[in-house]
Formats: sequence, C-alpha cells, structure tokens
Amino acid sequence: MTQMAWQGVERGGDGQPVWSGASGVLAAPAQAQGGDQAAHAQVRQAGEVILDLQHISLSFGGVKALTDISFDVREHEIRAIIGPNGAGKSSMLNVINGVYHPQQGRIVFRGEERRRMHPTAAARQGIARTFQNIALFKGMTVLDNIMTGRNTRFRSGLLANALWWGPARNEEMQHRRKVEEVIDFLEIQAIRKTPVGRLPYGLQKRVELARALAAEPSMLLLDEPMAGMNVEEKQDMCRFILDVNHQFGTTIVLIEHDMGVVMDISDRVVVLDYGKKIGDGTPEAVKANPDVIRAYLGASH
Ligand SMILES: Nc1ncnc2c1ncn2[C@@H]1O[C@H](COP(=O)(O)OP(=O)(O)OP(=O)(O)O)[C@@H](O)[C@H]1O
Ligand SMILES: [Mg+2]
Repeated sequence: MTQMAWQGVERGGDGQPVWSGASGVLAAPAQAQGGDQAAHAQVRQAGEVILDLQHISLSFGGVKALTDISFDVREHEIRAIIGPNGAGKSSMLNVINGVYHPQQGRIVFRGEERRRMHPTAAARQGIARTFQNIALFKGMTVLDNIMTGRNTRFRSGLLANALWWGPARNEEMQHRRKVEEVIDFLEIQAIRKTPVGRLPYGLQKRVELARALAAEPSMLLLDEPMAGMNVEEKQDMCRFILDVNHQFGTTIVLIEHDMGVVMDISDRVVVLDYGKKIGDGTPEAVKANPDVIRAYLGASH
C-alpha cells in the first residue's frame, strides 16, 4: 500500500526525490495549442477563491481524520490533494460535498458561509464528484448510468414525467441531448448500450466521469480517477480532465497518488499527512517543501 501511495516518487542519485509519472505527454498543451491555452492559463490564474475551507476538523470516534485544515480553491483551477493512505483526502472531499459534517470549521462556497455543506445543496450549486470505488449501476447501460447524472436537473413534476407529457417530454429530450454531448466528448459512443459491469475497469472510470459531467458541474471533485489504470489509460484520463478544465472552465479538485500526473496537471497542490496539512502551493513549491519530502521519502531523510 505504501508503494502505491508514493507512486511516481523515487529517490534520485543525489538522495532527492524524483517526481516522475505516467503523464509525460501532458505538460505540453500550453505550447501545443498556443495562444488559446495561454489565455485559459491566465483566466485560471486570475480565478477568484470560490471555496474556502477554514479550520476544518473531523473525527470518527477517536480517529482524527482531519485536524484544523484550511485551504482554498480558485475558480477554474486544478487543485490537487495528495498524501499517503489514510491521510484524510477522501474525507476532505466528503466534507466539501456534504457527506461528512466536520465538528469544527467553516466552509465558504461562493460567498456563502456554512458550518457544514449538505449534499443536495452541493449538487444544486454545481458540485459533482466521482468516487474512489466506482459507484455505478453495474447492470444498467452506460447511457442510463450517465442519465442518472441529470437527476438534480429534472424540473417537471412526477406526474408529467410519468405521462411523458408536454414539458416533461421536452425536458427529457434536453437531458438526452446533453448526455449524448458528454458521450461524444469522452469518446464512449461505441459502448453507450453496454452494461457497465461488462466494461474493463478503465472504461468504468471514464463512465463515472461522464455521469459527473452530465450534471454540468462548475466544480468537479475527482477521487483517484486514475487508480488502477495502465499508463495509456492514465494518459487518456489526464487528457479528458484537462479538456474539461480548459473547454468548460470547470474547477477541479483532484485526489491522485501518481505524483507525475499531479505535478503535470495541477495548478496548486495541498498535502495532507495523518489528517494534518503539511504543504500547500504550486507543484514546484510543494516538491521543494522539506516536510513533504520527509513524508514522501520517510523519516530517515
Ligand atoms: N466513515 C468513516 N468512519 C470511520 N472512520 C473513517 C471514515 N471515513 C474515514 N475514516 C478514517 O479517517 C481517516 C482518513 O481516511 P480517508 O479515507 O479520508 O483517507 P485517504 O487519504 O482518502 O486514504 P486513501 O489514500 O487510502 O484513500 C482514516 O483513518 C479512515 O480510517
Ligand atoms: Mg481516499
């Protein structure tokens, strides 16, 4: 497990960590696509803080999952959360989308301050997520699974829906159009009618991303979207994440164990260790942070 946690980090000849990864092709889009990407980069840099987590503490009985964690997320950025197994990364995402309620701290989302977020409020405000363990209906087709991502957007009443009448009919057509757009975007046309349970793991992860995107989120929380993937699948997933971020301006909070990927695609990184924050900043700053190096390479360093 420890090895998995520090995937992509090795000790180099000089004893310093080498932050390698599977994502070699990914650092290139800014140069490859020229001015357009540069403009996006500027927008991303200039984004305002839309989520501000202040002094969050969360425990389960005697287990302190998070202790006094503060960090913020800016609009349009890719914000990574890294740290070893059990560091509190998934718990943090659960606090952001209201599944876990912290005992202490405040969550300010788009200017609204709360002691805790509620899952329905999070969904209504455009926060969508994928899970560390795939949460899809395995017996249902790809198309139907993605359609469930539209749930929070259904407006017409149950009766109208049941009767397939007037506004409900128009609404459903609209939902189907959106779902087809997502299917095209993620290049999964060929499997749209396939039951999810029959797909290889990497594609299931992509379908989960599709379900989240179907909600047209302004903020996407991704919990280890590349775990268990081979190099090629990781590269595809990285490309999709970057495309979502660039094309739709979606703010992304990403938990990922592959340090090469994290260093390549994120704007800022927050580092957790045993429920505490030990680093926060640009990938370069985090890489040079002695506490982070110590956590990654062991106490002997
Ligand atoms: N629902 C829960 N009930 C009890 N303890 C929990 C619960 N959720 C998380 N924890 C505990 O909180 C701590 C942080 O767990 P969390 O899943 O957030 O870590 P993580 O950084 O996501 O780890 P991993 O890399 O293994 O996914 C762990 O000690 C875990 O056992
Ligand atoms: Mg986790």
